[in-house]
Amino acid sequence: MTDPRFDRLAALKRARTPIVMVTAYDVVSARAAEDAGVDVVLVGDSGANVVLGYESTREVSVDELLVLARAARRGVKTPLLVCDLPFGSYEESNDLAVATSRRFRDAVGCDAVKIEGGGVIAERARAVVEAGIPVMGHVGLLPQHLEPGTPARARGRGVDEALEIARSARELQAAGCFAMVFEAVPAAVATAITQTLTVPTIGIGAGGDTDGQVLVFHDLLGLSRGRTARFVKKYAELYGPMVDGVQAFAADVRARRYPAPEHTYPVDPAQLEAFLAQLGGAR
Ligand code: KIV
Repeated sequence: MTDPRFDRLAALKRARTPIVMVTAYDVVSARAAEDAGVDVVLVGDSGANVVLGYESTREVSVDELLVLARAARRGVKTPLLVCDLPFGSYEESNDLAVATSRRFRDAVGCDAVKIEGGGVIAERARAVVEAGIPVMGHVGLLPQHLEPGTPARARGRGVDEALEIARSARELQAAGCFAMVFEAVPAAVATAITQTLTVPTIGIGAGGDTDGQVLVFHDLLGLSRGRTARFVKKYAELYGPMVDGVQAFAADVRARRYPAPEHTYPVDPAQLEAFLAQLGGAR
């Protein structure tokens, strides 16, 4: 990997400096992430839920995520840009995983792709890495593996699940993944596994001792309606002010307060008079 930003992530882990990752799905969220100085921007398949309104991340297609990713690309200059590979676009074979990863790299210009799971998925990761495309892994809660309608729950609370997460993480590291997400894993389990890995771990609901943290843009800014997961900290509550803004606009329009003179373009009276005269004739 020649891009120094990948080495920088490894250096941050060694220095025990937390890595910051945030999701983005369009040019607005991408520019906000860029201007905030985060290290990594993820075009997550969570866009299925927070942008496209699907119930499950399983419903987003490659073509749909490509549109979101290309929009995000236009706003991200400095951080690494990682794109999720959607459900069904990489699991079946190494060839499929490589072909889909190439589509994302070529159509978006992303720096890396992310895939969910260990076991055979680590083999897919290896094939993609060998094809020259960096891969981020994802262990713990795997939203793409949830049947639609099944509630999300933490993973790794029992010995067997915790060991399986550790095994997946080791497989993904051995496959050449440059980093991996730990989602909804007890802090003590994520910490213990992180200490056994040389590549950075980026937690979401995995406690404070993973090598970095990620949150979904819409969650951390309070841009969505409804409940959020236990691990979400809201740094702003923007949904209410958005509704207020649209309501104020609607009220102004209905009361003819908007547009006011300062929002309209003036025209030279002589030009207007000539125009009106000709307009009448044109009818
Ligand atoms: O899709 C997503 O937003 C993710 C994060 C939760 C890491 O995978």
